[in-house]
Amino acid sequence: MKKLIIICLSISITFSVFLFAEEVSNSIELLKPQIDEKPLLKIMNERMSTREYSNKEIPDQMLSNLLWAAFGINRPETGMRTAPSAINAQEIDIYVANAAGLYLYEPKKHVLELIHNEDIREHTGNPGTEYAKTAPVNLILVLDSAKFSMFADYEEMVKIMAFSDAGFIGQNIYLFCASEKLATVVLGAIDSEKLHKLMKLRDEQSVLFSLPVGYFKIGDSNE
Ligand SMILES: Cc1cc2nc3c(=O)[nH]c(=O)nc-3n(C[C@H](O)[C@H](O)[C@H](O)COP(=O)(O)O)c2cc1C
Repeated sequence: MKKLIIICLSISITFSVFLFAEEVSNSIELLKPQIDEKPLLKIMNERMSTREYSNKEIPDQMLSNLLWAAFGINRPETGMRTAPSAINAQEIDIYVANAAGLYLYEPKKHVLELIHNEDIREHTGNPGTEYAKTAPVNLILVLDSAKFSMFADYEEMVKIMAFSDAGFIGQNIYLFCASEKLATVVLGAIDSEKLHKLMKLRDEQSVLFSLPVGYFKIGDSNE
């Protein structure tokens, strides 16, 4: 009897070891991400949405870097940009709203072209909220569907491509902000029609997202 118990035990132990080995071989344990050693992963680790800003102005150099990172030209010989765009249409424009007025970012010359001198920041946030106007800068991503004329008969496709392209730019903005200890959030639930009028946009243009950008309010930093 004792002999039989020992035999049964050995069979069951052997079987369990075999099963365990099977389980282990089916899964691959990934290496720990090196977020302290790889700057990009460290920045990604700090990316987040923030809806409170200090009223400290963003220095000119910082704004320049922010716009370049967002959708500037990173290959001057071809005019290609820091974010991808469907069929390289580059159909998203970045408008900058601040206390002094509204500007269009022109990437070829890397300049801001004045649209008008009204401060429209109180209209760039989610309706009923106040925080967008407290950020010194609001970046407004606008589709120019005239640059998508080849998709003229495919309205749904224009929307999908445009929102995808704007999303890439939005992520560039988030990552730049994380790298420079700036606060931002992408806002989709905005009053696009009202903004369209306030921004004096053409019929073929549509407002897709706005992103307030500012320094963290003291005590609300991700440092
Ligand atoms: C397409 C899109 C639209 C968004 N619209 C809004 C918005 O209207 N208002 C808002 O407060 N946050 C908005 N957000 C931010 C999300 O709420 C936020 O990304 C989410 O809560 C996750 O938080 P995290 O960005 O800190 O990871 C939007 C995000 C995306 C991707």
